[in-house]
Amino acid sequence: MNAPSKQLSDYKSRPARPAPKRMFVADLTDKSHPQYCDVHGQYFPLIGAPAMCPECAVIKAELAEAAHHEALFNAREKARHAAAGVPIRHSHCGFVNYKQELPGQRVALTAAKAYTKRIQAGQTGCLIMVGSTGTGKTHLSVSIIRNLMARRQDKEPLFARYATSADIANDITTAWVRERAKEGDNEKATLQRYVDPDVLVIDEVGLDDQRDNQINAIHRVLTARHDAQKSTVVVSNLTTAKMQELMGDRLWSRLGEDGAIVECFWADQRTASKGWMK
Ligand SMILES: Nc1ncnc2c1ncn2[C@@H]1O[C@H](COP(=O)(O)OP(=O)(O)O)[C@@H](O)[C@H]1O
Ligand SMILES: [Mg+2]
Ligand SMILES: [Zn+2]
Repeated sequence: MNAPSKQLSDYKSRPARPAPKRMFVADLTDKSHPQYCDVHGQYFPLIGAPAMCPECAVIKAELAEAAHHEALFNAREKARHAAAGVPIRHSHCGFVNYKQELPGQRVALTAAKAYTKRIQAGQTGCLIMVGSTGTGKTHLSVSIIRNLMARRQDKEPLFARYATSADIANDITTAWVRERAKEGDNEKATLQRYVDPDVLVIDEVGLDDQRDNQINAIHRVLTARHDAQKSTVVVSNLTTAKMQELMGDRLWSRLGEDGAIVECFWADQRTASKGWMK
């Protein structure tokens, strides 16, 4: 870093520093004179080079390199998040800003964290989160995949994806349109895109996708993911009993093989704390 030109009085006011033998006001035009770095002491600037302490120059270059790597990492992480499809409205969601004021919230947070740990430890399984609107189900499911996508010591971050049940169902049931339009896509490839991620959040199951072919598409995704031993977080506003009914006994028992259920039935946290809807 360029040392700002100092007055003699500046040095006098700081007696703790070992004073250079000769005190002078830096003359940048006279390269024969040593200059003084606050951190590294006296140095002789190279002729033709900017008047800068050589040790500071190395540090500056290293800092610039570190900043460059950090920027690259952040860009990659941003791209991963964008590819994960986390809605902007929920991009702030994490375990740290999930409040645990109600006993149910504490249970839900503990279960979500435990599930994340299990997946990080290399296990696979399903987490079913049911409950009323505004209880933080999407918040927790996004927190789970954000944690799984984060950089970890000497381990590759997992490939996670978020999608609503309706979006997945529409994507799969309209694949034939893209195939007919020769867009290089088909139903098998579309389904595979929902099987590939290590972790998939399927949000709002049972909301707009009660039609048979749509629920059928979700069944196929869940079954294929189960067979491929991939982890899935299934989120719904339905009750556990209604979910079981919607999934059907066969799929339900498969999901239960290595799965856990979190029930979130308490007041809507959007209207409980703020807003005009109180
Ligand atoms: N326990 C909580 N702590 C902090 N924010 C919460 C909590 N529960 C809900 N929220 C916030 O309330 C809003 C609605 O939560 P959301 O996860 O969308 O609910 P749900 O998916 O259950 O309908 C979000 O902005 C979310 O961040
Ligand atoms: Mg939600
Ligand atoms: Zn220096």
